[in-house]
Amino acid sequence: MKLFALLLSLLLVSAAAFANPFPKGDTRIGKTLHDKSCTSCHVSMTGGDGSAIYSRLERKVKNPQQLQARIRNCNANVGANWFPDEENHVAAYLNLQYYHFK
Ligand code: HEC
Repeated sequence: MKLFALLLSLLLVSAAAFANPFPKGDTRIGKTLHDKSCTSCHVSMTGGDGSAIYSRLERKVKNPQQLQARIRNCNANVGANWFPDEENHVAAYLNLQYYHFK
């Protein structure tokens, strides 16, 4: 019975890992990077903490590829000079917090 429970939890953990489109992203690092470089414009556009831009009804990003592309563009526009793995951390964070893509 114990073994069964162990196997089941392993299966669930790996299923969750496969469902995550940004498995290498560290959401904690992503949040730090994001909060440092990415809120100013969004706050002036939407008010509050700016996060409404990610959850608004007419939001533009519809899948993980678009999220990645958008982060890459904003990174370049803002001049944050993130490396691809840093973009990945931010993608993982935004996905966990707002987009929930599988
Ligand atoms: C210079 C202003 C500005 C800064 C700074 C900025 N953004 Fe944006 N961002 C925008 C604008 C404007 C939009 C909305 C574009 C639209 O509606 O087509 C947007 C939209 C987005 C969206 C899409 C939201 C949706 O509709 O689903 C994402 C994701 C995003 N930004 C990520 C970032 C990230 C990551 C950073 C930090 C590197 C960042 N932004 C910094 C101006 C900015």
